[in-house]
Amino acid sequence: MPLIAPSILAADFANLQRDVEMLNRSSADYIHVDIMDGRFVPNISFGIPVCAAVKRHATKPLDVHLMIVEPDRYLEDFREAGADILTVHFEACPNLHRTLQHIKELGALASVAINPHTPVVSLSEVLGEVSQVLIMSVNPGFGGQSFIENTYRKVRELVELRADAGVNFDIEVDGGVNGENSPLLIDAGADVLVAGSFVFKSDDPMATIMALKGPVIE
Ligand code: DX5
Ligand code: ZN
Repeated sequence: MPLIAPSILAADFANLQRDVEMLNRSSADYIHVDIMDGRFVPNISFGIPVCAAVKRHATKPLDVHLMIVEPDRYLEDFREAGADILTVHFEACPNLHRTLQHIKELGALASVAINPHTPVVSLSEVLGEVSQVLIMSVNPGFGGQSFIENTYRKVRELVELRADAGVNFDIEVDGGVNGENSPLLIDAGADVLVAGSFVFKSDDPMATIMALKGPVIE
């Protein structure tokens, strides 16, 4: 069964505590926190104080996705604000190996994300350094975009690279995930599914989270 990480980017920001408490009661595994700076991506979401506020109410690990330039400047702040998993973008890190070491030194799980145009093989030299690789299935910056189909192939390639390297990390897919593509992503080898709009815009978010995990086997 995959892990599910609902993205609070699609939550009601005026009722964030209520929505986080709903996720606490749900079968979600992580709470996905999208940080956008208006520079790495053409949109601004929220920052460190909001992350800390979510942490005060969350009973599940915070999966913090930094869509920001120069993430090294803020790793400590986000760790203090409660990040359990810290994801930086390959495209934003000229010294990625050092950045990943820094995340681990801070006591968080290190994760790296790649944009749709970045081939998975770009990560081959750091696969032993990470707990998670995030494959973007939309161009980062906005919720509610449509899923890019070649993500399935990228997941499969990464499953192979992981086996060849003899290392272990989770493969997370983020962007446009819904009930149609989730079974195909699970089949391709995805370990963690992020979903924003599909969860929060549904009539019954808790049931939607459960459904994303796949059919219940009795
Ligand atoms: C996109 C973010 C995603 C986003 C997913 O830049 O990284 O985590 O919240 O939202 P949906 O599921 O609506 O595509
Ligand atoms: Zn994200």
